[in-house]
Amino acid sequence: MTLMEDSVGVGDLVLLEPLEEEPLLKNLQLRYENKEIYTYIGNVLISMNPYQQLPIYGPEFIAKYQDYTFYELKPHIYALANVAYQSLRDRDRDQCILITGESGAGKTEASKLVMSYVAAVCGKGEQVNSVKEQLLQSNPVLEAFGNAKTIRNNNSSRFGKYMDIEFDFKGSPLGGVITNYLLEKSRVVKQLEGERNFHIFYQLLAGADAHLLEALKLERDTSHYAYLHQKVSRVDGMDDASNFKSVQNAMTVIGFSEVEIQQVLEVTALVLKLGNVELADESQANGTSASGIRDGRGVQEIGEMIGLNSEELEKALCSRTMKTAKEEVVTTLNFTQAQYARDALAKNIYSRLFNWIVNRINESIKVGSGEKKKVMGVLDIYGFEILEDNSFEQFVINYCNEKLQQVFIEMTLKEEQEEYKREGIPWTKVDYFDNGIICNLIEHNQQGILAMLDEECLRPGVVSDSTFLAKLNQVFSKHGYYESKVTQNAQRQYDHTMGLSCFRICHYAGKVTYNVNSFIDKNNDLLFRDLSQAMWKAQHPLLQSLFPEGVPTQTSLKRPPTAGAQFKSSVAILMKNLYSKNPNYIRCIKPNEHQQRGQFSSELVAVQTRYLGLLENVRVRRAGYAYRQRYEPFLERYRLLGRSTWPRWNGGDREGVEKVLGELSLSSEELAFGKTKIFIRSPKTLFYLEEKRRLRLQQLATLIQKIYRGWRCRTHYQLMRKSQILISSWFRGNMQRKRYAKIKASVVLIQAFVRGWKARKDYRKYFRSGAALTLADFIYKSITQKFLLGLRNNLPSTNILDRTWPAAPYRCFNTANQELQQLFYRWKCKRFRDRLSPKQVEILKEKLCASELFKGKKASYPQSVPIPFCGDYLGLQGNPKLQKLKGGEEGPVLMADTVKKVNRGNGKTSSRILLLTKGHVILIDTKKSQAKTVIGLDSVAEVSVTSFKDGLFSLRLNEISSVGSRGDFLLVSEHVIELLTKMYQAVLDATQRQLLISVTEKFSVRFKESSVAVKVIQGPEGDRNGKLKCKKKGSRCLEVTV
Ligand SMILES: Nc1ncnc2c1ncn2[C@@H]1O[C@H](COP(=O)(O)OP(=O)(O)O)[C@@H](O)[C@H]1O
Ligand SMILES: [Mg+2]
Repeated sequence: MTLMEDSVGVGDLVLLEPLEEEPLLKNLQLRYENKEIYTYIGNVLISMNPYQQLPIYGPEFIAKYQDYTFYELKPHIYALANVAYQSLRDRDRDQCILITGESGAGKTEASKLVMSYVAAVCGKGEQVNSVKEQLLQSNPVLEAFGNAKTIRNNNSSRFGKYMDIEFDFKGSPLGGVITNYLLEKSRVVKQLEGERNFHIFYQLLAGADAHLLEALKLERDTSHYAYLHQKVSRVDGMDDASNFKSVQNAMTVIGFSEVEIQQVLEVTALVLKLGNVELADESQANGTSASGIRDGRGVQEIGEMIGLNSEELEKALCSRTMKTAKEEVVTTLNFTQAQYARDALAKNIYSRLFNWIVNRINESIKVGSGEKKKVMGVLDIYGFEILEDNSFEQFVINYCNEKLQQVFIEMTLKEEQEEYKREGIPWTKVDYFDNGIICNLIEHNQQGILAMLDEECLRPGVVSDSTFLAKLNQVFSKHGYYESKVTQNAQRQYDHTMGLSCFRICHYAGKVTYNVNSFIDKNNDLLFRDLSQAMWKAQHPLLQSLFPEGVPTQTSLKRPPTAGAQFKSSVAILMKNLYSKNPNYIRCIKPNEHQQRGQFSSELVAVQTRYLGLLENVRVRRAGYAYRQRYEPFLERYRLLGRSTWPRWNGGDREGVEKVLGELSLSSEELAFGKTKIFIRSPKTLFYLEEKRRLRLQQLATLIQKIYRGWRCRTHYQLMRKSQILISSWFRGNMQRKRYAKIKASVVLIQAFVRGWKARKDYRKYFRSGAALTLADFIYKSITQKFLLGLRNNLPSTNILDRTWPAAPYRCFNTANQELQQLFYRWKCKRFRDRLSPKQVEILKEKLCASELFKGKKASYPQSVPIPFCGDYLGLQGNPKLQKLKGGEEGPVLMADTVKKVNRGNGKTSSRILLLTKGHVILIDTKKSQAKTVIGLDSVAEVSVTSFKDGLFSLRLNEISSVGSRGDFLLVSEHVIELLTKMYQAVLDATQRQLLISVTEKFSVRFKESSVAVKVIQGPEGDRNGKLKCKKKGSRCLEVTV
């Protein structure tokens, strides 16, 4: 199917649109210019000679084409060879490959390519390889003897060749048979300007070693030989010497013995030497012309080489023995006749040698008759020829091509028809030109040109080319395909292109004008009997065997078949052979006349396409359906166009194809469904399918690309992610490890420090640096100890009044020493206090109260301090009389004393007994013990005393109290401190009131509704002895001196 993909132009001309000559040529040209030298017409291969080595051959390509079916790859000769070989091997069909085309169009190359392909793909093994090798090596040998340089082709095959390669059931080659047709033997004695003789002559002279040359009595220089006496002796790019070696080698491989090779070369040399036999015109005395050998040495040498008496040879060359039933007549040959005879001998020897070589090769490669075999025939035969002057050779060649065309048309049509039948598709008849009539014109057994020619050759009487032409003109005067100057239909009287001695045949490929000159001669192909007998007589085994008719005993007069008859029968055999096989066509085309690469001459190609009937070919092919394909590959190719068949199709191939085409809604006329193939009528439909496919492929490619890209990115991303995770895990791990190591190191360091610190702590004592501290500590402790112990032993007395305390021995103990002193003192006080009895406590409390009230305020206070408070100064306990004075007053008497009462009116004093109880102060007149004044403590408002040593005090009473009406009291007591202290306490106990005791020198006392101001004055010290003097100053003032 690559047929269409990336194809330059169309790869199959069946698909050409429109189907005309011009587009066909254009298509071929386009492809040729793009080095696409192969193009199909269905299964026919057109091959253009590239005139250059293209890189499309070799094992790589063989392998490729071996694996694909015909249309799957670009058109190629390998594809065709592959189809043929596979059909042979797998379907057991004998094949023939018909390679046709002009000289130089590439037929021989094509046949070699086919053979090399088949050799490469068919079975392997030692035996097989040796057969293959023999088959392949037959080429160089045949080419050496059968090819020559012509103007058109440096390696032109000058014979037709048909080679049957035979295979066993497995497809391994067994051997083969080669048939050769019509060697161009005239070349042996004469070549056109710019052409050469057969390669072998040049190869022999250039390649043989000196020894061999001498043995063959040859000279190396080609110009020495008359038959090679042409300007061209070398061909560019052809190495005759090395080719000679290859030929020798090939002959050995094929199985030629040393002797045989030697003999072949001897016969070859003989031909060269014959050419050098110079003849002389020796007219005899009687006037008859005769000939002779100019230089006897050449003949001598020939005679020695082939073991023949030189005289005999000379005689054979220069005379002729005519044999009738009764007698033998020897006539001498004139110069021209002798030359003709010599050249005829040379040509005959050479062409027989060639036949012998072909037979010898066949002997080597032939297959045992018992084996069942399959056959592949390869026909490499000259194509249709139109030269300027066309002779007998062109006539037979064109006849052969006409026959091949017939085969082609019949087989192609037959094949087409059979295919339709096989596939169950109705067959529509195709109009085509049937060239049977032309074939008939030539080959008809009685009325054919060849038959006429034979008849003329055999006819007694004067026979010449012109009698032959006359006969033709007469017989075919009304034939539609025969023309000559005299036939009615031609109206050629004034046609200058046709000479008088010419006739013209309208071949299928064009009209060709033949010149009848030497038709008779060439058809007769006679060799004088003397010469063949002489050759037979030679002692050279090979040469002898080449001339079996020379046996003198075999004197039959029966003529050998004419060249034309021989050719006709071999063509007939060939045709029979081809008809029995499946044909494969290779149509070779020569793009230009100059063997130039890249040059495309439209006219030249146009002529060849006409000869080859390519357009006709396409028409036949397209008569029914232009395109056909097996369901499976078709479905495989187009199923992507159908919704139900893409991406998966599980049904049958045919159903699949129907589905796809149904979905595309193509017209039903365009399609036919055969049993195994789908047929498409017009190329347009196929192109439409192709275009659809191309677009769809683009779509799919985009899809695939999309998915692929997605996949690639995804995997890339996943990879990156994985990598990232891996990296970060490694990184984290690494970081943590580092961190851990750092922590561990730190921990170890800290541990070490701590341990060190601990150890140092434990061992510090052993450190010298600690000693000072310890010592200082120790010293400090010991002085402290000494200080404290010394203090203990020297404690001052425990008397609380003793406040002495030793000084601190060091200044640093000063604070501690003061503290200790304080502590000690406090301790002493506490001990003292703890030892006091409750009574003493009571007494001291009173003393304390007194101190609070009077200390620093009253001058008599310091004297009162050491004197204990006695309370009862009257002896109240032991005096019941006095106890009565107490009256009904509650509680014990707190104080009992004698006081003086100052009379406020006059300042006189009178004694009174004062009793202080818990609630009252009782004043009793000492004389009149009944008269007493009871004053409730709650009514005592204030007490006033002086700051002097005297005992005067006033009791100021509340104004509302009952006693108050009598006024306040001004009293003097010797124990004024004790009395007032006890009164203060009693008032406090009784009324929770602090009695106001004011120390003053001026105060007032109420007296009978009025008040008297009292002024106390300090008298001279010691005067009064405790006695005071009151002096009334005015009614309202009383001055007291103390
Ligand atoms: N396929 C090819 N590739 C390269 N060169 C080719 C090819 N076919 C032919 N030629 C060239 O063209 C020349 C003539 O080819 P050949 O096969 O001898 O022609 P024919 O046999 O038709 O006369 C060859 O010698 C070769 O140089
Ligand atoms: Mg050839």
